[in-house]
Amino acid sequence: MAPPRSGNQNGRGGNNRSGGGGGYGNSRNRDYDGGRSGPSHSRGRNQIHSGRVERRSNFGGGGGMGRDNRNRVSGKIGSGGSSGGGNSDDFSKLRDVTWSDMRLPPFQKNFYQEHPKTRNRPHHEVERYRAAHQITLKGQAPNPIQYFDEACFPDYCLNEIRRQRYNEPTPIQAQAWPIAMSGSNLVGIAKTGSGKTLAFILPAIVHINHQPPLQRGDGPIALVLAPTRELAQQIQSVANDFGSSAYVRNTCIFGGAPKTRQTQDLERGVELVIATPGRLLDFLSNGITNMQRCTYLVLDEADRMLDMGFEPQIRKILNQIRPDRQILMWSATWPREVRQLAEDFLGNNYIQVNIGSLELSANHNIRQYVDVCQEADKGSKLKDLLSFIYDQSPHPGKIIIFVATKKKVDELSRFINGFGVRVGSIHGDKSQLDRDNVLSDFRNGRANILVATDVAARGLDVDGIKYVINFDFPQSSEDYIHRIGRTGRKHSTGTSYAFFTRKNAKCARALVDILREANQNVNPDLEYIARNAATISSKEKERDRANRDSGLGGSNRRNGGNSNNYSSNNGYSGGNRFGGGGGGGGGGGVGSNSGYGNNAGYSNGSGRSRNYSNSRH
Ligand SMILES: Nc1ncnc2c1ncn2[C@@H]1O[C@H](COP(=O)(O)OP(=O)(O)OP(=O)(O)O)[C@@H](O)[C@H]1O
Ligand SMILES: [Mg+2]
Repeated sequence: MAPPRSGNQNGRGGNNRSGGGGGYGNSRNRDYDGGRSGPSHSRGRNQIHSGRVERRSNFGGGGGMGRDNRNRVSGKIGSGGSSGGGNSDDFSKLRDVTWSDMRLPPFQKNFYQEHPKTRNRPHHEVERYRAAHQITLKGQAPNPIQYFDEACFPDYCLNEIRRQRYNEPTPIQAQAWPIAMSGSNLVGIAKTGSGKTLAFILPAIVHINHQPPLQRGDGPIALVLAPTRELAQQIQSVANDFGSSAYVRNTCIFGGAPKTRQTQDLERGVELVIATPGRLLDFLSNGITNMQRCTYLVLDEADRMLDMGFEPQIRKILNQIRPDRQILMWSATWPREVRQLAEDFLGNNYIQVNIGSLELSANHNIRQYVDVCQEADKGSKLKDLLSFIYDQSPHPGKIIIFVATKKKVDELSRFINGFGVRVGSIHGDKSQLDRDNVLSDFRNGRANILVATDVAARGLDVDGIKYVINFDFPQSSEDYIHRIGRTGRKHSTGTSYAFFTRKNAKCARALVDILREANQNVNPDLEYIARNAATISSKEKERDRANRDSGLGGSNRRNGGNSNNYSSNNGYSGGNRFGGGGGGGGGGGVGSNSGYGNNAGYSNGSGRSRNYSNSRH
């Protein structure tokens, strides 16, 4: 085969917007795969320990927004970049490949040998299994396997499965493995925390082991693309667990980290690459790697990867890969908007597996509460909520709090820190070293609260997260599903809270549907907003316009929709609001919970005066 050349191979400046990671898309995208350069240390999915809550003092007794510069972020995206990286035009240097002009060597992608037990299982039993696990199919799929030994994985994979103490395949694994190992293109949609990573990693290992060995200069045989560095690293740790004894070499390619080691790995040759798109394009543009051998391609969080932020990069990467490769797309959400585009890449003959509802749906292990409130009240509501959570148990498990902007992440983490609770914070402007350390502290339980932007919304699998708090409601209901999906993983349960304001009206209808589908009670205030969303949204816009015109500021996107309220926020101005409740910060601090049960927002919808105790599992 005539090798497709990867365009310009000249050296390049360090004119880098985001260490090669982001910089290509909108600001949302930058937060996904952006950030500045810095060494990477994190590897550690296995470093997880059960949560330890450090409770130096209590919420009731804390002291406002004390200044704590530890998390201060200096500079902006683009100001770093000591390790070089891609600039926004880089991938345009990468020459498109005209595959139709090429004679491609054949390769094998169907390795599936159906186990006699699977093959001989009566049809009604197969259908019973599918119905019991709500497996819906589009296209002709082989029977699901029901036990690990039916999957015909190599022994080293089965050993690792035993070592991890998994009892049985999750439904997505049971149905997707036979499809993936048969070489079909696949869309796999299953709830958050249901084991999709292993659903694509094990077939990747089998696929790799059936290909001719890599020769000098060959690129990877399998490529996994993911939207964030942390997710890519986490996938790598699964690949390490399951692939290392199979001598499947892998590397993780992501922006924000020095290129040296990644380059060395690629030049030495790795069968499996897990990458965020920006840095990979950078390496492709510079001829450091190529996709000529790539025959197994995964898009994890595929709807995110195909949305407007990433689509041009994905298109560019996919063009470097032979069109007859196997492609597998995975997510917990599959919005209509990306389906057509996905089909461009999948072709006509793909199989889709859905587990659970075919509509947008949340993991049913999560108890969801929505508090309809005013923007200005969020600070005090958060304090009350944390106070309540810590009141239930001094060791309530880990808590992740999502906010809209990087600035708010910093402010809110300082605010919480002021109560003597150790808190980590993560967003796209933090150095990679910071991001790694923060996530590792959170995984290890050194910090039990993490404040984050959507950079932590997708895919992250951290043991022991019991609560997700949407301090700011996300931009879309898909994001909501992924955010709350950081809890309730595997077979565990969790609780999510969301502060919902009239500015979020456009998401109200979908949120009501999500709550109903998951058999959650619906707050009547939310229902009211859903019914009147159009009017409320336009009134909010009008009010914003009026505020802007009168110089009051009002909502603006950059500052998370309510900069004025936030910066001069009464709820946040802090010390006095928090000071009174807790008996001077001693053990009685959580006693500030009085009045809490009257909180309107968290009622189960059936009664406003119910308090959070309904939320306990
Ligand atoms: N068969 C299994 N039995 C029990 N646990 C499993 C099994 N397979 C995977 N797991 C565990 O389930 C957890 C969640 O898996 P994973 O991160 O792959 O979920 P996911 O479906 O990709 O979620 P998300 O949509 O949030 O990305 C992991 O800790 C993983 O080790
Ligand atoms: Mg995942």
